[in-house]
Amino acid sequence: MRNLIVIGLASISGFAIISSCGSAVEGKSAKATTPAVEQMITADTALIPHDQFGESVRYGRELMMNTAVLIGPDGSAGKYLGNKMNCTNCHQDAGTKAFSFNLMASHDHYPQYRGREGKVLTLAERVNNCVTRPHNGKPLPLDSKEMVAFLSYFKWLSTFVPKNQPFKGAKNLTVTFPDIAANPQHGQLLYQENCSRCHGPNGEGQWNADKSTYVYPPLWGATAYQPGSSMHRVIKQAEWLKNNMPYDKALPGKPFLTDQEALDIAAFVNNDAIHPRPNPKSFDYPHIVEKAIDYDHGPFADTFSVAQHKYGPYQPIISYWKEKGWKAVY
Ligand code: HEC
Ligand code: HEC
Repeated sequence: MRNLIVIGLASISGFAIISSCGSAVEGKSAKATTPAVEQMITADTALIPHDQFGESVRYGRELMMNTAVLIGPDGSAGKYLGNKMNCTNCHQDAGTKAFSFNLMASHDHYPQYRGREGKVLTLAERVNNCVTRPHNGKPLPLDSKEMVAFLSYFKWLSTFVPKNQPFKGAKNLTVTFPDIAANPQHGQLLYQENCSRCHGPNGEGQWNADKSTYVYPPLWGATAYQPGSSMHRVIKQAEWLKNNMPYDKALPGKPFLTDQEALDIAAFVNNDAIHPRPNPKSFDYPHIVEKAIDYDHGPFADTFSVAQHKYGPYQPIISYWKEKGWKAVY
């Protein structure tokens, strides 16, 4: 299936295109007006240049894969993260996997206005959001060797992306919203059936031999992502689960879970009444009409309950926002 075509583009780059995997469901990118590249794109590490810039790219990729060992709580290059997860746990294949919070075009998309912070962020500041939220850590200095390496890696990744064109897998798959709310109780049953054999009955994950990181990362508890992370939003997580979990059963563009199952499981994993997490230091979205609709912390611009924002049904919220002329983000 991995039929790699590499076309030389510039001196240090090329397109590496994975041939289409059949009748994949289209992601949000399909809504864009420019014609989408109908293939998944990947980066060929053999093309990392053999010079100082290439060294920084290689270190950046290393940081994506072995984040905990390098900059975790006992990190050899600095102690920044509050947990021992790795960036690649969510941005799979070091940010190159299709429909897995793909990072290949991120370098082209920043600086960018972000509603959560209510200001324009640089890519470095956006990296630090993931260091502080899913990794529950403290920000990397913007001029550190590590931050420069992350940025070098993202710049190099972006050389494989056709400019200003959406491509298959750039955005996650979408889920169709059912008329009923996501059901955490049903999610619990599905979790036991599909997830606990790797992530553990208590979402604790599974350590590697020397406990420097995980074979299977934790999903809740003090060592997991904190509530300010996008993974804590039910829709966001369901869209990602659909393409990526169970790890041994889903393939890019070929979901294993149904949309309803993905939503129910995400509702169970993110149910704070039964699943504690590290506390966020502050809450977000200074402008409430920019708040993501599945963000579970008020105040809200509408009169829907916290529970409905978190678990749905989402369609009435989306319709209400549309009527008001506000942009519903999810
Ligand atoms: C628990 C899952 C998780 C982990 C671990 C994680 N991220 Fe993220 N990251 C996300 C989610 C979710 C988003 C938001 C994606 C979206 O809104 O579509 C995101 C967004 C990003 C973005 C912005 C992408 C864009 O184009 O806007 C960057 C850059 C990023 N992460 C880098 C990192 C780095 C570097 C690490 C490791 C230090 C990391 N992330 C660890 C879940 C995670
Ligand atoms: C066969 C083992 C396996 C199964 C089954 C499995 N996962 Fe995972 N999961 C993984 C691995 C491995 C990773 C990290 C992926 C990587 O680093 O490339 C992961 C990562 C994750 C992450 C992102 C990282 C984190 O810890 O927050 C979430 C969320 C997740 N899985 C949820 C689930 C859910 C929900 C199910 C059931 C539908 C499931 N997984 C089933 C192996 C598994």
